[in-house]
Amino acid sequence: MGRVIFVASGKGGVGKSIIASNLGATYAERGIRVAMVDMNIGLRNLDIYMGLENRVVYDIADVLSGLVPPRRAMVRDKRFQALYFLATTHDKAKFTAGPPEIAQLYLYLKELFDIVLIDGPAGLGGELELAMTGVDKAVVITTPEYVSLRDADHADQILRAGGVRDRVYIVNKVNRSYFASGLLPTVEIITSMMKIPLLGVVQYDDNIHISGNCGVPIVLRGDSYITRNFEKIADRLLMY
Ligand SMILES: Nc1ncnc2c1ncn2[C@@H]1O[C@H](COP(=O)(O)OP(=O)(O)OP(=O)(O)O)[C@@H](O)[C@H]1O
Ligand SMILES: [Mg+2]
Repeated sequence: MGRVIFVASGKGGVGKSIIASNLGATYAERGIRVAMVDMNIGLRNLDIYMGLENRVVYDIADVLSGLVPPRRAMVRDKRFQALYFLATTHDKAKFTAGPPEIAQLYLYLKELFDIVLIDGPAGLGGELELAMTGVDKAVVITTPEYVSLRDADHADQILRAGGVRDRVYIVNKVNRSYFASGLLPTVEIITSMMKIPLLGVVQYDDNIHISGNCGVPIVLRGDSYITRNFEKIADRLLMY
């Protein structure tokens, strides 16, 4: 039985999808069976970061409405032995499923895959509550900004109230030269503010941005400090 790992944030644009794509690719390169599910309903973009947008035919709304079985809607990423991707829908109105259907889908995927990685929505409303149904652990993404931190803490409280016991966080888009100004929270300040363990820190790097937007998670571009960092983060995530 696999594990469902949910990537959450609160504030939008902090790097949930970039981190999900790189974690998924890191695990899949190790031969781990990975299912990636984009739960950012109506705002599809994980398919682009994975370079799979031209291969998506059916989406999660088609699966949850019973139109097609999950196997038919999931796109196999040919770069790996076993990474499959389920796209979210562009059309929010098409998505009518509730928590029981979501939980059933996650359970089904957990039986087939070692890791089910859910790319969550931005915001703290109903979509977050829906997407987090029945997940085993959550990785909350924040950037080193007070607004993002407050929203990450709020998302963490919602996850905790929803029964997600294993929660960790990543500080993304870290640019150490900003810290020198004293105006933005340092990793030390962030650690003192968040109530859950720090999983890792990801630097701000244009290469992460460019590579993701070209459909290649940067960890697939060979050895670099970024790849080694994601390796460590991926290891630690499995330990929690
Ligand atoms: N570590 C990083 N270094 C540089 N750019 C990054 C990094 N992480 C993310 N980005 C860029 O930041 C932007 C937002 O990232 P991403 O789409 O992953 O965020 P998100 O949290 O999934 O957003 P949304 O809430 O809209 O789903 C993208 O342009 C992405 O390329
Ligand atoms: Mg996203």
